[in-house]
Amino acid sequence: MSGPPLRVAVLGAGVVGREVIRAFLERPEALRTADGAPLELVGVAVRDVQQAAEGGIPAHLLTDAPAHLVAAQATDIVVELMGGEEPARTILSAALGAGKSVVSANKLVLARHGAALEDAARRNGAFLRFEAAVGGGTPVLSPLAEGLGSDRLTRIRGIVNGTTNLLLTDMAERGTAYTDALRRAKRAGYAEADPASDVEGHDAAYKLVILARLGFGVWLDPDRVPRTGARADGEPGPAGILGVSPEDLAAATEAGLAIRLIARAELVRGGRIAAAVVPAAVPSGSAFGRTVGVGNRVEVEAAPIGRVAFEGPGAGGASTSSAILADLRAIARHAGSTWAGLAPARASADVAAFPAPRAGHLDAPSGARYPILD
Ligand code: HSE
Repeated sequence: MSGPPLRVAVLGAGVVGREVIRAFLERPEALRTADGAPLELVGVAVRDVQQAAEGGIPAHLLTDAPAHLVAAQATDIVVELMGGEEPARTILSAALGAGKSVVSANKLVLARHGAALEDAARRNGAFLRFEAAVGGGTPVLSPLAEGLGSDRLTRIRGIVNGTTNLLLTDMAERGTAYTDALRRAKRAGYAEADPASDVEGHDAAYKLVILARLGFGVWLDPDRVPRTGARADGEPGPAGILGVSPEDLAAATEAGLAIRLIARAELVRGGRIAAAVVPAAVPSGSAFGRTVGVGNRVEVEAAPIGRVAFEGPGAGGASTSSAILADLRAIARHAGSTWAGLAPARASADVAAFPAPRAGHLDAPSGARYPILD
């Protein structure tokens, strides 16, 4: 026998929110598990109620007061898809403080305030799940926390930003101009509201912080994760992919390499964690080299299992909604938070530097120096 329905409030009806709402309206059976309570949509908070109603969301569900919806007695679970730091952080804290479970895709808030939110969830017996924050719909975080929970991780490497991967691969393989490729990523709903977060590497740094929490038990400070490329003259390059020129991409292809924005974190000497999000060269035929378009790929090395990889669509409303719905089902069957089963994490401001790459560097025409990752 399952219990009474769990009443769900969705905050935000953007690219992902609309798909989640559509699932509630059109595929309610997807929200049921054999061993969990059924889930029921009780409200949707949006900025513009009229526009949302015109877009097909039933008017009786709509409100422009997210904090009230979260506080309402009729809300058991909050799905936060507003994005941005505030008011999302305050609303999430309030929900967890009231013992209400939360599903969030908010990478920024989780990376910046993860330690406090984890603490609030643990203290109040609420679940906080955030599979959609990394890898879009591709399951990465739960497998890391649960399936590899008894392994000792030594390395995480990933292509975790779909927008920049689409830009790099469209430019390298189709000769698309940067601005045209960015327009395509925006139109497809892959880019952030402010795409500077994608192209400057912030979004990937947030995701790396979240991966490191599950892999290494530490909430790193995202502001301490380096995001600038290197230059052969020793000067720092621009942030994220801003310094990657079409000539650099062509030179990499010529050398049998491909340039990718790689987020990586590694256990280094003294038990410290090195972390960075920088453009790097990878062999064209490697799994990272073959990860194109909006695809994401995360590889972890762990003992005793060895290397494990997760790959799939990394952005977009329909695919990302899959992770939200999976988290809702997990809450309905009392599966706990995304970190369930792992020890509480500590916060750390310490981020170590990486040792020099074994395979050397690619010195490119623009003056950029890309580490070659094998
Ligand atoms: N802007 C993000 C990306 C969305 O392109 O990967 C998914 O997190």
